Amino acid sequence: MAEKKVIAIVGATGAQGGGLARAILGDARGPFSARALTRKVDSDKASELARLGAEVVGADLDDVESLKRAFRGAYGAFCVTNYWEHFSPEKELAQAANLAEAAKGSGLGHVIWSTLEDTRKWVPLYDDRMPTLMEKYKVPHFDAKGAANRGFTDRGIPTTLLLTSFYWDNLIYFGMGPKRGPDGVLGIAMPMGDKKLPGIAAEDIGKCAYGIFGRGDAYLGKTVGIAGGHPTGQEMAAALSKALGQEVRYDAVSPEAYRSFGFPGAEDLGNMFQFKRDFNDYYCGARDLAKTRALDPSTQTFEEWLSRNKERIPLE
Ligand SMILES: NC(=O)c1ccc[n+]([C@@H]2O[C@H](COP(=O)([O-])OP(=O)(O)OC[C@H]3O[C@@H](n4cnc5c(N)ncnc54)[C@H](OP(=O)(O)O)[C@@H]3O)[C@@H](O)[C@H]2O)c1
Repeated sequence: MAEKKVIAIVGATGAQGGGLARAILGDARGPFSARALTRKVDSDKASELARLGAEVVGADLDDVESLKRAFRGAYGAFCVTNYWEHFSPEKELAQAANLAEAAKGSGLGHVIWSTLEDTRKWVPLYDDRMPTLMEKYKVPHFDAKGAANRGFTDRGIPTTLLLTSFYWDNLIYFGMGPKRGPDGVLGIAMPMGDKKLPGIAAEDIGKCAYGIFGRGDAYLGKTVGIAGGHPTGQEMAAALSKALGQEVRYDAVSPEAYRSFGFPGAEDLGNMFQFKRDFNDYYCGARDLAKTRALDPSTQTFEEWLSRNKERIPLE
């Protein structure tokens, strides 16, 4: 049997990279092997990946030399940063630059950079329809990822830019699950008006990345957006009502109201939803459902994800 090509996976202990690691490890006859990069090689998640057959390697996004070591000999790399660990676009940019620098030096054949739009191309800083945040950004956790794209492409790295979508899992882990109003009825609040919200099960992002690696050169130099569904807030509330067996309302709050909710990242997310709402045709068009399913036929719709995960959604 031909030797397997190593895919170095940043964030293998997390949602996106974990989906890719499990896709590779679950396809024993496939062409790839999984190298899981983590800061904590002895963690339960790293140990579980090792048990499943991954090579676990210590690496830190803040340490370019550790990334170079971790990429050595690999064919491909899946690169992701975790904005929500530090809330710093500058740090995210620096970490992405480290990834690109290490990828360049290691001669990788295919890098997938998990990215999002630099929204300043649609809403320049002088545009006051949404506030500028941290002096230089409109949607900091989007803008930094989008601005980092050039770090990969300008270095001539064979790259696929992977535009991800809102995780359905945000209803479990990100405080976006239904909350009870004063009348006791559950509701989800999103400033999306009647527009569509492209979303995906977090683990399906990694499965799509697996599909991209599996197609060899076909996606090199390309940008591909992925989503499992484009439901409106109203449709999400209806699906939740059905799955949970109790009414869930959609509260189409204004972006201004959402920004003032006060939790860490509320302004960033308020601007994010407003961007998705106000540029909805572009945003949905960049995340084609049929193209996503061509990469991973099992990509879950919101309803499918709900049927598997509804018990895990905290109801406050
Ligand atoms: N929530 C959403 O709807 C959504 C949608 C699209 C995109 N995103 C983006 O997704 C990103 C997070 O990805 P995720 O959900 O897969 O993350 P996650 O499940 O929270 O896990 C974070 C992963 O990043 C790794 N990591 C973080 N800092 C690291 C460092 N300094 N060095 C090495 N590894 C590091 C962690 O590895 P160890 O801890 O094992 O070292 C872990 O595997 C964020 O940037 C977010 O903006 C989120």
